[in-house]
Amino acid sequence: MDFNIAVIKGDGIGPEIVDEAIKVLDKVAKVYGHKFNYTRVLMGGESIDACGSPLTDEAIATAKANDAVLMGSIGGNTKTSPWYQLPPQLRPEAGLLKLRKELGLFANIRPAWLYDELKEACPLKKEIADQGFDLVIMRELTGGLYFGVRGTNGEAGERKAFDTCEYSEAEIRRIAVKGFDIAMKRGRKLTCVDKANVLDTSRLWRKVVEEVAKEYPEVEYDFMLVDNAAMQLVRAPGQFDVILTENMFGDILSDEASEITGSIGMLPSASLKETSFGLYEPSHGSAPDIAGTGKANPLATILSAAMLLRYSLNLDKEADAVENAVKEVLKKGLRTVDIMSEGCSCLTCSEMGSAVASEI
Ligand code: IPM
Ligand code: MG
Repeated sequence: MDFNIAVIKGDGIGPEIVDEAIKVLDKVAKVYGHKFNYTRVLMGGESIDACGSPLTDEAIATAKANDAVLMGSIGGNTKTSPWYQLPPQLRPEAGLLKLRKELGLFANIRPAWLYDELKEACPLKKEIADQGFDLVIMRELTGGLYFGVRGTNGEAGERKAFDTCEYSEAEIRRIAVKGFDIAMKRGRKLTCVDKANVLDTSRLWRKVVEEVAKEYPEVEYDFMLVDNAAMQLVRAPGQFDVILTENMFGDILSDEASEITGSIGMLPSASLKETSFGLYEPSHGSAPDIAGTGKANPLATILSAAMLLRYSLNLDKEADAVENAVKEVLKKGLRTVDIMSEGCSCLTCSEMGSAVASEI
């Protein structure tokens, strides 16, 4: 079959990791008899340089016209890149936030699991790592503090800045439904993470999640305060199956969850709406310091492409093939530098992409 994929290479290591994911997708196309048509879409720094804005209306329209979007990463060094001299709404990240909002991608799935082969890279104590973990963070992506009213007032010396956090019942309900749906397909356990001892938004989240939970009697669910959740993630991550949480908490916890897998370079993510359309990107950032050195790990992007096959194109068999290829490569002791350990072979980004493609 023919599928149309919009491709955002982005900044830093973005282009090199996306090239490897495309290498793998092309192999999938060849083996399984599909055709993937790619259309480049500019976003972030590359779009600022080319069009003077981090995301143009044309780019949004092109992204929408495709079956799914595959993305690398955007942004540069916030201390040294000229992009960060621009007003906030013209910086690279503003493009990503606008794209999420314009495409209605409210559900961000960020899985984090420990590969047996990478247990040594896990920074947790051995007895914790040995227990393993396999969790998914379901992060609300188009509401909360990220999109609330904000501003800075007053004269220098007396300035005041504010960011507001708002959630409607409808926004909470639709992400809760996604959270419970995915829990049904996994371990049937959901932990709603919030700050209900302080925040009104969190208290509303609890009420709505309680209501939605009634529709899913088979899912065991619980609430946990976010500070405790941050601690539990490093103390006993095996207790989690699905973590359901709002935008900002999800941003923070998903970095923590990816770190405890041993490499932030391993984790994919999917941002979805009610339809099958989605945007797929690695959970990590653009790592401008290693861009162009061949040190980037393309596996998170390759695994994001697998999620794209599964969720947007409904190609489960092909998605399994990509995920298994990644496991095979790790089993063979092939590594990029970020997950390197003794006795393994260290590959460049491009060699790693080729290694995965050849397993399919
Ligand atoms: C992420 C990133 C973004 C976010 C930034 C780049 C705006 O950290 O996808 O987790 O905070 O959502
Ligand atoms: Mg983040």
